[in-house]
Amino acid sequence: MTSVLPDSPSAMTAIDWLALVHPVLIILFVYPVVGATIRLGILVREKRLGITRQPDLVPVEHAAHGAWVTAGVVVAVLIAMLSSLLAHGWASGGVPRLLALGLVIGGTLAALLALLRVRRAALRAACALLCWAGLLGLGSQPEIGRLSDNPFSAGFWSSHYWSGVLLSGLLLFTTAARPEIIRLPRLRRLHLTLNLLVMVLLAVQAITGTRDLVQMPLIPKTPLAQRCDPPASGCMQTPRSAMPAH
Ligand code: HEM
Ligand code: HEM
Repeated sequence: MTSVLPDSPSAMTAIDWLALVHPVLIILFVYPVVGATIRLGILVREKRLGITRQPDLVPVEHAAHGAWVTAGVVVAVLIAMLSSLLAHGWASGGVPRLLALGLVIGGTLAALLALLRVRRAALRAACALLCWAGLLGLGSQPEIGRLSDNPFSAGFWSSHYWSGVLLSGLLLFTTAARPEIIRLPRLRRLHLTLNLLVMVLLAVQAITGTRDLVQMPLIPKTPLAQRCDPPASGCMQTPRSAMPAH
C-alpha cells in the first residue's frame, strides 16, 4: 500500500503548515486555558456560596481566562477558514471577492478586539454579533466544507463545522455578557447551563476534529495530497467543499 505520508516534512507546502496551525493552537493553547477556566469557575462558586475562602482575584481571573478562551477559539477558527480558502484558490471570484473576504476576516478580528475592550452593553452585544456573523459569513463560502446543512440529518449533528460555530457563538455571548453574569443571578444560572453545553461541545470538537484529521489529507490538490493513492489509501481528490466530511 502506498504511504500517504510525505518522505520528509519539506514535502508539505506553506498552506499545509497553515492548516496545521488550527488544531495546534487549539490543543496547545485553548484546551489548557479551558481547564484553568473551569477550575477557576468552580472556585468562584465555592467563594460565593462560602464553601471555601478564595482571594478576591479568583472571579476576575476566571472571566479573564474565559475571554482568552473565546479569543483563542475565534482566531483558531479564522485560521482554519483562511487555510481552506487559500487551499481552494479563493481568488476564483476575482479581485472583488478577494477584497470582500479579506475585509470580512479583518472585520471579524476587529470586532473580537473591540468586544474585549468596549464597556456599554449595546456595544458589547453588537461586537459579539458582528464577530459571529463574520464567522458564519466566511463559513458559508463554498470552500468551507460541511457534511450537511440540514438540521434534520445525522450529518449536521456530527459536523465539526456546525458544532464549531455554535461553540464560538456561545463563547462570544458569554464574553459579551460578563458584567451581567456578575450582576444578575438569572444570567449567572444561564451562564452555568450554557457552559455545561460548551464543555460538551469542546469534547465533541476534539473528537470530530481528530476524526477529520485522520480521514482526510490536509490540503487536497497540494503536492502532499497528490502523492496519495486513492484506491489503496482512500485519500480524496475532490475539493474539500465537495467532500463528504466534517
Ligand atoms: C468552560 C467554560 C466555563 C465554565 C465551566 C464556567 C463556570 C463558571 C462558574 C461555575 C461560575 C460561578 C457561578 C456561581 O457563582 O454560581 C462562573 C462565573 C462567572 N463566569 Fe464562567 N465559566 C466558563 C466560561 C466563562 C467565560 C468564557 C467567561 C467570560 C469571558 C466567563 C465569565 C464568568 C463571570 C463574569 C462569572 C461571574 C464571576 C463573579 O461572580 O464575579 N465564564 N463561571
Ligand atoms: C474549540 C475547538 C474547535 C473549534 C471551535 C473548531 C472549529 C472549526 C471550524 C469552524 C472549522 C471549519 C473551517 C474549515 O473547514 O475551513 C474547523 C476545521 C478543522 N478543524 Fe477544528 N475546531 C476545534 C478543534 C479542533 C481540534 C481539536 C482538531 C484536531 C485535533 C481540529 C481539526 C480541524 C481540521 C483538521 C479542520 C479542517 C478540516 C475540517 O474542516 O474539518 N479542530 N474547525
